[in-house]
Amino acid sequence: MQIERICVLGAGNMGHQIALSAALGGFKVKCSDVKQEVLQKAEQFADNYLKERVAKGKLSAEAAQTARENISFTADMKEAACDADLVIEAILENLELKRSIFAQLDEICPPHTILATNSSYIVSSKIADATKRPEKVCNMHFFNPVLVMKLVEVVNGPHTAEETAETVRAVAEKMGKIPVMLQKEIYGFLVNRIVSAIRTEALYLLDQGVASYQDIDTAVVNALGHPMGPFRLLDLVGIDLAYEIAMERYRLTGDPAYKPSPFLVEKLVKEEWGRKKGKGFYEYPEK
Ligand code: CAA
Repeated sequence: MQIERICVLGAGNMGHQIALSAALGGFKVKCSDVKQEVLQKAEQFADNYLKERVAKGKLSAEAAQTARENISFTADMKEAACDADLVIEAILENLELKRSIFAQLDEICPPHTILATNSSYIVSSKIADATKRPEKVCNMHFFNPVLVMKLVEVVNGPHTAEETAETVRAVAEKMGKIPVMLQKEIYGFLVNRIVSAIRTEALYLLDQGVASYQDIDTAVVNALGHPMGPFRLLDLVGIDLAYEIAMERYRLTGDPAYKPSPFLVEKLVKEEWGRKKGKGFYEYPEK
């Protein structure tokens, strides 16, 4: 199936960069968010980012101009989705909200439109039956920061048609990404399961007073070659999201091992959610 027009719903932490990656990949993109200020920030980001890439010599002026022409921003979800071949939903991690949005998209979009969710942990089978096109629903999961991270996880739900997953995989490739296919749904997909295992151990070591979070990060960066340690990564991804991911696994399994650590709970309550709040484990003065 040929995809030309993409709608990205949600212009927050992930959505604004998914939209720009798609525009750089040659798709016609409409990026939508209910919050006008979030939308304005996303548009400003696109302008600045493209200018910086040209100034750095990483992008030609023509390619930047084409990408800018490819992307538009609107608060009107109907306008954004009505002619899309693919919708990538990147809104809040709230199942009921996602189900309601997918039901609305099902009404708004043409019958051929694929509906994908960028959720970090909600599998698409929990959403697909809110639509009359479950075979066209799947997970398409990007990583933060989307413009840098190459990987995209495409997850086949039991309801997902092979053609849908294959089309989404091809879109990811055209965006310059490296897609991997999950043949069945599993909580946390591939990467968040692995990241969670490292994070759980790092939080345990901190909790036990074995080392400071700075030294645990230093150890992971300098012994394992990770670009950043688990605490700096928590700040990047968002401590609010990491808390939700841990809580969901705890709810699903009932296993206390997955209960969010007291350090996460403390940061959550203090609203020290990482980069987006200017403070998490580390401080980000520019915010
Ligand atoms: N947005 C866009 N581009 C960014 C960026 C951002 N927030 N931060 C950095 N970059 C770009 C820079 O422009 C620069 O690009 P060029 O080299 O092409 O000029 C490049 O990334 C390197 O930037 P810096 O030199 O400033 O910084 P760095 O070398 O420390 O890299 C990093 C920053 C790319 C974030 C790197 O530390 C890294 O790869 N960290 C690991 C990130 C990671 O593990 N992500 C996955 C998280 S898990 C997740 O996302 C799950 C989920 O469900 C949400």
